[in-house]
Amino acid sequence: MSELRFDGQTVVVTGAGGGLGKAYATFFGSRGANVVVNDLGGSFKGEGNSTKAADVVVDEIKAAGGKAVANYDSVENGEKIIETAIKAFGRIDILINNAGILRDVSFKNMKDADWDLIFKVHVKGAYKCARAAWPHFRKQKFGRIINTASAAGLFGNFGQANYSAAKLAQVGFTETLAKEGAKYNIIANVIAPIAASRMTETIMPPDLLALMKPEWVVPLVAVLVHKSNTSESGSIFEVGGGHIAKLRWERSSGQLLKCDQTYTPSAVLKKWDQVIDFSKPQYPSGPNDFLTLLEESTKMGPNEQGEKVDFTGRVALVT
Ligand code: NAI
Repeated sequence: MSELRFDGQTVVVTGAGGGLGKAYATFFGSRGANVVVNDLGGSFKGEGNSTKAADVVVDEIKAAGGKAVANYDSVENGEKIIETAIKAFGRIDILINNAGILRDVSFKNMKDADWDLIFKVHVKGAYKCARAAWPHFRKQKFGRIINTASAAGLFGNFGQANYSAAKLAQVGFTETLAKEGAKYNIIANVIAPIAASRMTETIMPPDLLALMKPEWVVPLVAVLVHKSNTSESGSIFEVGGGHIAKLRWERSSGQLLKCDQTYTPSAVLKKWDQVIDFSKPQYPSGPNDFLTLLEESTKMGPNEQGEKVDFTGRVALVT
């Protein structure tokens, strides 16, 4: 199989001065792409800034024979980052929204500043970069986006209420971009990576970190953003330590209740086992799927009172 190449394409990697971002940037630089290495160069808590982080990676890519420019703006000013791509290379094809920081603190002690900064960098940052790239993607009928979630966002994690909320936001954001972009060959996917970096070095033991090289997240990202991927979009992946898995929403088939005076909290409690029963799961992928579920429920047989309920709440006695 020939290697996946990105010749002539421009890739913007945010937060590319270290960790996962650096691994993406050096990879794309080695596969023929023009790379915009964005990094604000602050601490992992989002304090300070420096040009060094991005410069080191640019130098590394160039020394290996690749093409790269640095950008030092915060992702909150995404339009400036995309402008760097257009000025330097005349185009933008692939956006890897990767920049991130942590402000971990128990919810009891969380301050507005902890919440707001996390949302600015992760949510507003991903939005601003994608928004600035979007007109170019539409015009050229090609665009690839990776957003970065986290297992903390998918499942919750102690001390990370701000980060979890901002990371799950990446999922809804990606799912919508995938839908709006489909017509224009704009593909968007979201990953929940796990990798050794300055972000994880204080919370994971060294032997585990050795098994979590940032480079091992790169191949999945490369596949998803390559021009040959024209169908995998709006998907969620967990990736790390060489393992790649796809996630999806699962819904119980649930229980339709009669919408009349009997629809009380007690009636809900009576049906609780069915509400949470996943033995006949469904895998919804759009808002209209719930209406389909209601229609399906209507087709179900009579309840123990011999009544058949339809979703408009009417009850037909079964004879
Ligand atoms: P890292 O701290 O090594 O890299 C993040 C980079 O983003 C840093 O170089 C930092 O300077 C840059 N950055 C921070 N704020 C910025 C801003 N406003 N504008 C531009 N650049 C900014 O961390 P790591 O681990 O490489 O994380 C990359 C992404 O992956 C983050 O979004 C993180 O939340 C996410 N992630 C990482 C996990 C892991 O196991 N390493 C787990 C789950 C998610």
